[in-house]
Amino acid sequence: MKTIIEPFKIKSVEPIRMTTRQQREGILAKAGLNPFLIHADDVLIDLLTDSGTSAMSAQQWAGVMQGDEAYACSRSYYRFEETVKDIMGFEYVIPTHQGRAAERILFSIMCDENSVVPNNTHFDTTRANIEFRGAKAVDVVIDEAHVPSNLHPFKGNVDVDKLRAVIEEYGPQRIPLVMITITNNSGGGQPVSMENIKAVRAVCDEYSLPLYFDACRFAENAYFIKLREEGYADRSVKEIAREMFSYADGCTMSAKKDALVNIGGFLCTNDDVLARQEKELLILTEGFPTYGGLAGRDLEAMAQGLKEILEEDYLQYRLASTRYLGERIAAAGVPIMQPPGGHAIYIDAAAMLPHIPPLQYPGQALTCELYLEGGIRGVEIGSVMFASKDPETGEEVPAPMELVRLAIPRRVYTQSHIDYVIEVIEALHQRRESIRGMRIVEEAPFLRHFSARFEWID
Ligand code: F0G
Repeated sequence: MKTIIEPFKIKSVEPIRMTTRQQREGILAKAGLNPFLIHADDVLIDLLTDSGTSAMSAQQWAGVMQGDEAYACSRSYYRFEETVKDIMGFEYVIPTHQGRAAERILFSIMCDENSVVPNNTHFDTTRANIEFRGAKAVDVVIDEAHVPSNLHPFKGNVDVDKLRAVIEEYGPQRIPLVMITITNNSGGGQPVSMENIKAVRAVCDEYSLPLYFDACRFAENAYFIKLREEGYADRSVKEIAREMFSYADGCTMSAKKDALVNIGGFLCTNDDVLARQEKELLILTEGFPTYGGLAGRDLEAMAQGLKEILEEDYLQYRLASTRYLGERIAAAGVPIMQPPGGHAIYIDAAAMLPHIPPLQYPGQALTCELYLEGGIRGVEIGSVMFASKDPETGEEVPAPMELVRLAIPRRVYTQSHIDYVIEVIEALHQRRESIRGMRIVEEAPFLRHFSARFEWID
């Protein structure tokens, strides 16, 4: 088989800036050893997130110029609505400015203080919006998801027995909806199989519960099904996506991922009563139901992006390029979350740096070293982000895993950029024993990872 190439050529470029190690030391020190606080111009390759960082196509930019900015019932809304319906098949399509706005509206209406919402793994904004409503968010992913080296092909699957147990424990009347996150971001960008979606649907039917998808990366999930699940190799990705959505009653969507735009999102449902209530709430904070916090041009870009995301040469390149990074560093001995997911590679920093205890933040240390070594920005997903406090002693309890996520923006970097990332990681791996732990010197009471400041431990 020949090299899988980037299925696009480049018409418009943005320079990126190489810095010296000495400059980076000064920049990182000024940022309190927290890469979130580094000016993006001082980052060479930015793998902080795949959200809102896609490169738009010429067709999308053409759509931007054609955006109809009518306040109500704009042409761009109808084009967007038609595209979403064509792929997802839901009755009501409500635009929002991004994914979490859709989540807030959905949970404000469907949940109360008694509610319990199961999901394979709640993304942090999903969990936060459920908890903000006073409800409980429960993760019911399969056990294999927690073992980084496990090669299960659908590691995002819901554990149907755990789901049943949650429904039985709290009672179906306390469960306003069941969710599945496709792909499972917090679990390593791992896909969910069609068989599993069907099995969850069957459980929902048994208890008369609605099923919603957190659909941010639905196209990557559909392509994994095509590659890995029996009976789907000859189906188009669009058909597979349609089948996936046919088992759901609605979805939340961050269009900043698989709609290839820099801002946007939406909420879908088949329930007319819910749709009415959701639109009422939308008007309060997002805007009229045909624009929902977005400009007409954003709706055009989303509509076009949703078509492009289903192109199979794009998806083949997308999954191959993420896998390329994962396989290369794994071959060099770097422990990663296996198998490589759709949008990101997660380095297992606890396994790579066993000499650094979890509460000296091996993931944060590795993230800093990635920047110092090569100007690369990743993100710690470990105890800086997710440590908890012991309710009795008040002591910090480490997160279950210490990961560093390298998220790949869509259509932004070429293979030589990724080769460079591989070289930097290999160099770090070779001198891993020289990497020190860190302590926090300043932190906010909530979501401390965004603003905390650190120092190295000698
Ligand atoms: N659900 C999932 C699975 C996500 O990954 C995200 C965002 C959201 C919901 C929220 O969407 O940002 O548009 O409000 N994930 C980004 C990330 C931030 O870096 O993984 P949003």
